Amino acid sequence: MNLVIDSANVEAIKNLNEFLPIDGVTTNPSIIVKEKGDFLPLLKEIRNIIGEEKELFVQTISKKAEEIVEEARYICTTITGSILVKVPVTLEGIKAIKMLQEEGIRTLATTVYTPMSALMAAKAGAEYVAPYVNRIDNLTGNGTQVVSDIVDIFSSQNLPCKVLAASFKNVQQIQDVFLSGAHGVTAPPDLMKEIFHHPSVERDVEKFREEWLNQYGVGSNSLMSTK
Ligand code: G3P
Repeated sequence: MNLVIDSANVEAIKNLNEFLPIDGVTTNPSIIVKEKGDFLPLLKEIRNIIGEEKELFVQTISKKAEEIVEEARYICTTITGSILVKVPVTLEGIKAIKMLQEEGIRTLATTVYTPMSALMAAKAGAEYVAPYVNRIDNLTGNGTQVVSDIVDIFSSQNLPCKVLAASFKNVQQIQDVFLSGAHGVTAPPDLMKEIFHHPSVERDVEKFREEWLNQYGVGSNSLMSTK
């Protein structure tokens, strides 16, 4: 199971990487532009935070396959560690994924709205596909169903490609895609933290502590200082 941060915000990545069992960081042009800096130093800083082994996903911006391939080579020689190149699932993108696989450059097929585009990307050699769950829901489609269909097709066709579901606006969508068999999710930091905002948990923890301090006294605020 892959748990990936969908952000290029250095502070948020530092924080989440410390608290959660994170496997990597995904970026896209919009996410990088939001941070308002030079993109290469930003990507290098993210690499320093997560280390060389966790996956860092960087998206290409060219439209033609040959230019996408050039960008992918540039990213892979400029940023160290485990890199996945994100390529949109246009016709040119699928050609680029095919070319990149021949060179041994790892890819994630992005902007996936349909099972058929995911299937083409997987057959072309993409290591991951990223279906855009919330954007599909906004089109009055069913993002979770698209994830489920992709998982089923990959399984029936024996394709090793993994489904890294993306584009979420609430925790329910994340839970639903895992129930649909997604191999992982990439989600923004605030949404990952939202998983832990549960009033019942906060209430229970407070109560446990209160009962303990009532019995053992105010100095007994850890097991070691309890007599
Ligand atoms: O990783 C893809 C993702 O960034 C798209 O998410 O929230 O912009 O639909 P969103």
